[in-house]
Amino acid sequence: MKVVLWFVILGSLVQGGEPRLAALGKKVFLDPSLSTPPGQSCASCHDPKTAFADLRRVSPGAVKGRVGHRNAPSLMYAGLIAPQRLEDTYDENGEVEYIVEGGLFLDGRAHDLLEQVRQPFFEANEMNNADAGELAGKFRRAPYFKDFEGEVKRDEDLNERAFEALVAFLREPMFRPFNARIDDYWAGDKAALNLSERRGLDVFETTGGCSSCHLTGSSTWLEPLLSDSGFDNVGAPAVGKLDVGLGGVTGKKGELGQFKVPTLRNVALTAPYFHNGSIDTLREVMEFYNKRDLEPERWGVTDYPETVNHEEMGDLGLSEQEVTDLVALMDAFTDKSLLEMKEGDLFPKTAAGIPSTEERKAFFKEKARPDLSSPRRPR
Ligand code: HEC
Ligand code: HEC
Repeated sequence: MKVVLWFVILGSLVQGGEPRLAALGKKVFLDPSLSTPPGQSCASCHDPKTAFADLRRVSPGAVKGRVGHRNAPSLMYAGLIAPQRLEDTYDENGEVEYIVEGGLFLDGRAHDLLEQVRQPFFEANEMNNADAGELAGKFRRAPYFKDFEGEVKRDEDLNERAFEALVAFLREPMFRPFNARIDDYWAGDKAALNLSERRGLDVFETTGGCSSCHLTGSSTWLEPLLSDSGFDNVGAPAVGKLDVGLGGVTGKKGELGQFKVPTLRNVALTAPYFHNGSIDTLREVMEFYNKRDLEPERWGVTDYPETVNHEEMGDLGLSEQEVTDLVALMDAFTDKSLLEMKEGDLFPKTAAGIPSTEERKAFFKEKARPDLSSPRRPR
């Protein structure tokens, strides 16, 4: 008996609970029997071949005829998005103002990754399970049910275990390789970028003003995530019905139409662009940032013109060459592990030398949920 116990302890020391949990998460991620009707898995909308994003403007749901209204983002680096918090800044009158940073979903409605992964299962436009019992029944019938550990008698506990497993999976080193050419460049290999890309990086960090939101220095992580985890309204061309964005979550008028500043890592693989997939190519994204305010007829209306950012974009005065260089730079943000995927590979390979989740656990501490009710909501 004692010997068995010793093996159990030794086993968990060697293997760690996290990798086992992540292995379960991977099975859950790929399982198309978890939707109602069956046929849709997480991977149906987050395709590993395109950096776990959806190339369709919006994704069809499990139920025929239903569609979502936002473009499914990449899951690369999503495990590093900081839980939501409130940052204090000063408004133009010198009054303290609290703004939201971090959180998951394009409108920041999930406090952290665990809260996020629960939702697609029950979303009517996505996997469409009616309730916890329906989902738990599917886990009980799954061939990997034996991999669930701990107390899983209650439906809610069983489901929660699956959600934790998905979180562990999304935090695997595979999702955060930091092995794009820009990383080689920042590590000192100046030849990793060609001339056009180097000029593009210069524009990105100076006249383009891009790096004031898509940070090139590390802030929330050890390496740059190319996002400041803030929210803004770039004035994306309207598609379909109004999308309230962050303002719908916080109840603040000034935040209507604001969306999360996405990481630009692997952006060359994840067209179309912006929360509503309204722009098809990176060239057009750059032209939009450069001349949005000079060519209103080209881009049409936007959902919330009153909150659009005019200070930092819309009339940048960049030359055609500078626009071309910015487009070129985006290729330098693509991870090699994704580029090296071959026909038949299910997932990108994990690059060597990426620290394990255990080693970086300190960065994943879940913080307490911020109180969104005060002192905000002035309206
Ligand atoms: C029907 C398509 C669809 C399915 C199925 C789906 N997603 Fe998504 N996912 C989306 C869309 C669209 C968004 C953006 C929605 C929004 O922000 O409102 C999203 C957002 C996310 C995000 C947030 C990323 C970020 O940057 O904030 C994560 C993480 C995620 N999905 C994981 C999953 C997991 C795990 C599953 C399976 C349980 C899943 N998704 C199933 C379409 C889908
Ligand atoms: C004030 C902050 C801010 C600045 C400055 C900024 N961006 Fe963005 N960027 C955003 C936000 C917010 C979004 C998401 C908008 C949406 O979904 O509607 C975005 C989206 C993008 C996207 C599309 C990503 C995707 O996955 O859909 C690209 C590409 C991009 N930005 C590149 C740039 C470049 C290049 C510059 C400089 C010319 C720049 N950005 C300047 C905030 C900013």
